[in-house]
Amino acid sequence: MSNDTSNQMWGGRFSAGPDAIMEAINASIGFDKRMAAQDIAGSRAHAAMLAATGIVTDSDAEAMREGLLTVLSEIEGGTFEFSAALEDIHMNVESRLKEIIGEPAGRLHTGRSRNDQVATDFKLWVRDQMDAAIAGIQSLQKALLAQAEAGADWVMPGFTHLQTAQPVTWGHHMMAYVEMLGRDASRFADARARMNESPLGAAALAGTSFPIDRDMTAKALGFDRPSANSLDAVSDRDFALDFLSAASICAMHLSRFAEELVIWSSAQFRFVTLSDRFSTGSSIMPQKKNPDAAELIRAKIGRIFGANVALMTVMKGLPLAYSKDMQEDKEQVFDAADNLMLALAAMDGMVRDMSANRDSLAAAAGSGFSTATDLADWCVRAQGMPFRDAHHVTGALVAMAEAKGCDLPDLSLADMQTVNPDITEDVFSVLTVEASVASRTSYGGTAPAQVRVQVARWTKLLA
Ligand code: ARG
Repeated sequence: MSNDTSNQMWGGRFSAGPDAIMEAINASIGFDKRMAAQDIAGSRAHAAMLAATGIVTDSDAEAMREGLLTVLSEIEGGTFEFSAALEDIHMNVESRLKEIIGEPAGRLHTGRSRNDQVATDFKLWVRDQMDAAIAGIQSLQKALLAQAEAGADWVMPGFTHLQTAQPVTWGHHMMAYVEMLGRDASRFADARARMNESPLGAAALAGTSFPIDRDMTAKALGFDRPSANSLDAVSDRDFALDFLSAASICAMHLSRFAEELVIWSSAQFRFVTLSDRFSTGSSIMPQKKNPDAAELIRAKIGRIFGANVALMTVMKGLPLAYSKDMQEDKEQVFDAADNLMLALAAMDGMVRDMSANRDSLAAAAGSGFSTATDLADWCVRAQGMPFRDAHHVTGALVAMAEAKGCDLPDLSLADMQTVNPDITEDVFSVLTVEASVASRTSYGGTAPAQVRVQVARWTKLLA
């Protein structure tokens, strides 16, 4: 038997316990205890399989499975004492199981290793987060849909280069984010389908000589099939990287919308009013209402993409199969998942509570010569002018309006005819922002009729 201070799970060849610093750098229990439920589910599936294949007796397996439930209830009830000396969640659970059921606990680790165990637990944990991310995204999409439906025909300026470009509708702008988030949800769904193979039974790296049934454990844990190469199964963390990269892109989208909300809620824009519930005040400037939630959502991409880069860098250059480097995977993913869910929930709340200021949007929609393209298009349609010439004529009219300090619809017909004598009264019908947006009926365009088509499509998809 090993020395008293050496590890009870693997101390057979050791005569001394670890240095305190060794324990500190080695232990993962401080964070991997978050995978307790997954670890116990994996062990219960493994125990049932060991009995079904005759590797352990039914009564031993029953004792293990019952004992594991007791351990789970201790952990959930907060009475479980985690030990850093026992390194990780896997050994903490097994050691406690031994205290509860005695000898049969020692048979649980037959035909498996912590290497396939941790890969299984972590996959189960990440899979849950993929489902949670999809649910969070869809809830936010519904909040955006409600905004889009209410304001399908509210006009606002559309920007390129953050300069007024053409009028668009509020509904159209909201639906742009519904599309982005739809791709985000599909990225998580793709990643989930790709990762859903069970590593359990890959054992340390080479498989096992015990007659295990990997299909049985895969099925019990909701995997589609067992992974087909044991070396790959224990050393693969692609699923975590897939999660982090989908999370990064989603957080990037949230940051773009958050930035718009920060700008739009400023006194200079006043496009939206954020609710008090999702704003904060200033301790010194009484007039202030700050969009802190939006700013923090804008910032979350920093740590989420950071986690992606960190884990990619950890995995780079690792030889097959398992290396302890891989223990650095979990904190990055935990932090990224927590913050993505928080950002999605905060954005969801903010969007549900916010009100668009229809008058400010409309006033801004007409400024900045936003219907100049409509004027040029009119010259093409009404006069058969080549678009390049129409562009030139319109440019001259914009310059004239700018010099007079007015908008395009404020120019008189006589003024316009000094630039092009063929312009008629009819031109004024296309210079309003309402006419402009209503005319953009091409598929996916900003016309309220098109926006309503997309709202209906997404309402059905999300039902
Ligand atoms: N705590 C370890 C991890 O998170 C579990 C696997 C340890 N395996 C080993 N052979 N030391 O990766």
